[in-house]
Amino acid sequence: MEKFIISGGNPLKGEVSLGGAKNVALKICVASLLTDEELVLHNVPHISDVEAMLEVLKSLGVTVTLQGSSVRIKRGPIIHISVPLELGARLRTSSMVIGPLLARFGKATIPNPGGCRIGARPIDRHIEGLRRMGAAIEYVSTDGFFHASSTGLHGITYTFGKNTHTGTETLILAAVLAEGKTVLKNSAEEVEIDDLIGCLVKMGARIKRTALREITIEGVSRLRGTEYAIMPDRNEEVTFAVGAMVTGGEIVVVNSQQRHLSSFFDALDRAGGGYEKLSDTKTRYFKPQYLLATNIQTARHPGFMTDWQAPWAVLMTQATGESTIHETVFESRFSYVSELKKMGAEIDFFDPEVGDPASFYNFNWADRVEGYHQGIRIHGVTKLHNAILTMDDLRAGATLVISALAASGQSYLQGVEQIDRGYEKIEVRLTVLGAHIQRIKEEI
Ligand code: EPZ
Repeated sequence: MEKFIISGGNPLKGEVSLGGAKNVALKICVASLLTDEELVLHNVPHISDVEAMLEVLKSLGVTVTLQGSSVRIKRGPIIHISVPLELGARLRTSSMVIGPLLARFGKATIPNPGGCRIGARPIDRHIEGLRRMGAAIEYVSTDGFFHASSTGLHGITYTFGKNTHTGTETLILAAVLAEGKTVLKNSAEEVEIDDLIGCLVKMGARIKRTALREITIEGVSRLRGTEYAIMPDRNEEVTFAVGAMVTGGEIVVVNSQQRHLSSFFDALDRAGGGYEKLSDTKTRYFKPQYLLATNIQTARHPGFMTDWQAPWAVLMTQATGESTIHETVFESRFSYVSELKKMGAEIDFFDPEVGDPASFYNFNWADRVEGYHQGIRIHGVTKLHNAILTMDDLRAGATLVISALAASGQSYLQGVEQIDRGYEKIEVRLTVLGAHIQRIKEEI
């Protein structure tokens, strides 16, 4: 096991270049199964989730060659149609291979991705759509696998019951080679989906957003290989931006994803947060004179992204007054709160009044567990101090890193493997910005 030792109190200063977006790289790797030709991807982040996805592809018979931040992926002579259980358990998105495997080989066996730290995260919306496209899918609880087969997927007009980012992507990946036209209504608008669409169109797919929350796909007979550069990771940008502000520093993101961060900028405007758009691609983030308490509510795109609420909570510990965060996408995304409270943050839970929670919340209301809360109140300003912290999930982990950077004293953070899932060489990049952070192997 590895941990970070962080000595806080040093402002982050300098230039940041964002890595390739994790939540695009993973899906474009899945898209490689749609062709026998070589797919060359650039700006692929060296993170453990991508390594796990490449292992999944190799377990299916695909050959993978890494060259710096580029990856060459080519289908091998054989293709297996089953994802090993241990790989599926390591990576939720491995279940997304079901679409391409059904589309090309008429069979797929995928492990139930199961829940994780942020909630039950079922794939019922994915499975329902695939069944409507003609797949027979059975979940066998005794082996923990979905067993799927189809004699040929056909296009459908399908309306998602609720927003699903990867559910939309799974049906796109199944529809590109299906017979006829597919129209996906109430489909997700997250920008990572548009990067996946961009790559699929370069491969010869016929896809376009035909109306708000509507995607139309004309099935084609085959797709070709191509080269594609993955967009920078906007979630990284929010993490570094908040890190600069809470450490009293100043950074410039040189490949800024400004056009995909409008709800983040809106919240910063309300809080008096420090940012300046230096050009179309450069954004400066800095510590403002003081921050105002601000209420945010997470939502599907183009709302305030759920992945940003944890770092935002750290920012609000430095804002004057009482702020609230209402999490509406996942049912259990406050694992970092107990850790922030160890550092002196004053946070309590509450349950915001909503009309009909079953339709209001994006998660399946039946998945909620007694004791979960959807809201937190943050009282600022509180001076954060060092603590021994445990990182429970990817975004919570990044949040605890930036809070330890802002805190006084030396903090110990366990669970570094969570960070490595989505942030490439985070300690190296933070050290360059002036952070005192060390990765040490823990004697077991
Ligand atoms: C994607 O998760 C991202 N992950 C998440 O980022 C992101 O927070 C989320 O979209 C929202 O944008 C990847 O792209 C790999 P959803 P996804 O399907 O697709 C429930 C990160 O840190 N639901 O939009 O799983 C679900 O449990 C990760 O990078 C069902 O109940 O999100 C959740 O509560 C975290 N049944 C809500 O809906 C389904 O079939 C939204 O899920 C599908 C989803």
